[in-house]
Amino acid sequence: MKNVLFVASECTPFIKTGGLADVIGSLPQALKENERIEVRVILPLYDEIPLEWRNQMEFHMSFNVPLGWRNSEASIYTLKYNNIIYYFVSNTYYFTRKGVYGYYDDGERFLFFSRAVIEALTHLDFKPDVLHAHDWQAGMAVALAKILQPITDMKTVMTIHNIKYQGLMPIEIFEDFFDLSREHISGFEWNGMLNCLKSGLFHADKITTVSPSYGEEIKNPYYGEELHPFLLERSADLIGVLNGIDTKEYNPQTDSSIAVNYRSSRAKKKENKMMIQKKLGLPIAAGKPLYIIITRLVEQKGLHLVQHILDDFLHEDVQFIILGTGDAEFETFFAEAANCHPKKLVTLLAFDEGLARQLYASADFFVMPSKFEPCGLAQLIALQYKTVPIVRETGGLKDTVLPFNEITGEGNGFSFTNYNADDLLATLRYSLRIYHDSLQWSVLAKNVNKSQFSWQDSAREYANIYEQLMPINV
Ligand code: GLC
Repeated sequence: MKNVLFVASECTPFIKTGGLADVIGSLPQALKENERIEVRVILPLYDEIPLEWRNQMEFHMSFNVPLGWRNSEASIYTLKYNNIIYYFVSNTYYFTRKGVYGYYDDGERFLFFSRAVIEALTHLDFKPDVLHAHDWQAGMAVALAKILQPITDMKTVMTIHNIKYQGLMPIEIFEDFFDLSREHISGFEWNGMLNCLKSGLFHADKITTVSPSYGEEIKNPYYGEELHPFLLERSADLIGVLNGIDTKEYNPQTDSSIAVNYRSSRAKKKENKMMIQKKLGLPIAAGKPLYIIITRLVEQKGLHLVQHILDDFLHEDVQFIILGTGDAEFETFFAEAANCHPKKLVTLLAFDEGLARQLYASADFFVMPSKFEPCGLAQLIALQYKTVPIVRETGGLKDTVLPFNEITGEGNGFSFTNYNADDLLATLRYSLRIYHDSLQWSVLAKNVNKSQFSWQDSAREYANIYEQLMPINV
């Protein structure tokens, strides 16, 4: 049996701000099927984690965490859920706050978290063979594991879920927070800053990211967020493993949030559509094509393209629903647009899981024209609910959505290449034409029904990575 410890800043069902939480919540479950690997997960104990979970946690131990000239205390709480053991690092000063991120001292908070993880390793009843860290918040744990060697022979894996966020701090922090000799500085520094993600990548034995295409893209300046030269150098250690989704969790046959359960029946999807039209005050019309967007309202998701063409596209005989929260710029724009087109567009400025599922179940098309997308989970959920994705060909979107081809009858969605609003509009219009061509539409629907992105294959790839890294037992 080999032990793997996941280090991350969020995980469903405890705490979630984005797709990272879904992956940390479901990948250990999938890896559990592999009897040779035991995964445990370590997370910060945020005040924001609902009481329902906190009440079930058990105190494990407390210890001192050295941070340069400071000494803080950390306590570890444990919780077993679905047969996985979770450790939570508690510290009132750093984590008893509202929300998860967005504080001026986020860098320091996650330095503390990473340092506490390393300290915990010498106390825990679990000795990892592999420490697997996710995103910048956990990067320093990899760096410190390599330098301080809390467990001899422990290997490290660093996964990039989004290279845009790197955890940058003034380089002076190095001496202020770490008791390390100056020879180590170059491993922590990038472009004159202390960089948590780069520190993790530099010290990791293997680097992974969440789709093969993104793994290639980040070696180029357009996507690399200035780390591309470094990643090019580490090419041989960089692997793209596509994320999956929990297909038991996202299953239209059993989902209790939706009005009418179905496997692939278009007629039942239409019943869901009419329910949502009624609920949201749209004209009730089963045959009217329904397009949806469900996302954080941020630039990454390609919303500037949508802004440019929304008015034009709403001249067509369609309905559109947008669900999400985020930047004020987009919230205001989409709310005002809905006021101008009350019969065609509904904007819901909310983060509402149940409503999201009802929309996936009701819609004909799911629109996701991201500027960049490391993997993207929403298009996979859409496919699970037999909703046709319309995406830009980038990262994981490119790896999961194959554009429909009328001649060969292949493809499970629609896509366009350039980050260009006219191309998005043309693709939306093309999807509308196929929708009204019953023969082509049924070919497309069959392909959608066959698309499946469970965790099985990806879990096997991670298991291979761990096994390659671990010293052979004698
Ligand atoms: C980040 C990425 C998203 C990916 C998720 C999980 O949120 O932006 O594309 O699916 O991480 O890996």
